[in-house]
Amino acid sequence: MSHGFLGYSSTFMLDFVVTALVLIVPALLASLYLVKVRRNYVAHRNLQLVLAGVLLVAVLAFEIDIRMHGGWRAIVGTRTPALSVEQLEVVEQVLRVHLVFAISTPLLWGATITLALKRMPKPPAPCEHSRLHKTLGWLSVIDLVLTSVTGLLFYYRAFIA
Ligand code: HEM
Repeated sequence: MSHGFLGYSSTFMLDFVVTALVLIVPALLASLYLVKVRRNYVAHRNLQLVLAGVLLVAVLAFEIDIRMHGGWRAIVGTRTPALSVEQLEVVEQVLRVHLVFAISTPLLWGATITLALKRMPKPPAPCEHSRLHKTLGWLSVIDLVLTSVTGLLFYYRAFIA
């Protein structure tokens, strides 16, 4: 079983996605600063598109990697000392909650980006779509942060605690 680069009995891709989930939060804050404070709509759009692209590739590679390693239970099974049945149940519950956010986030992001690209002027600027975009945008941000927090909690429970 290969090991992750963070020093636990994880995998390289699992560690890569966990690192990406941490780094995405400051990148998202930078994008919000660009749009709210600097009113640099082009930079905001570009950063959001790069973030979405990077996340999509990372998550796809991660899903393939998890399956190639026989699923998350097989990966967690390599840790010493092994988790008790109760601890494994907690990890599974955290994973279920994480999946709610991890599945809804790309759908919400996809909708936010598609509608913004379709309905906003080029170059992007405040317009009739702004109201809906701001609502979708903030929901996407909250969903992603919750994906990140619950993903880190899963990693902590599965490999560190
Ligand atoms: C999932 C990707 C995106 C997220 C999460 C997001 C998030 C946000 C948020 C939260 C705001 C509101 C900031 C405020 O409260 O003032 C905003 C504003 C804005 N966004 Fe995005 N955005 C995304 C993608 C895009 C894209 C692709 C474009 C351009 C095509 C774009 C263009 C704009 C513009 C022009 C505003 C300013 C609207 C106004 O103040 O009237 N965004 N975005």
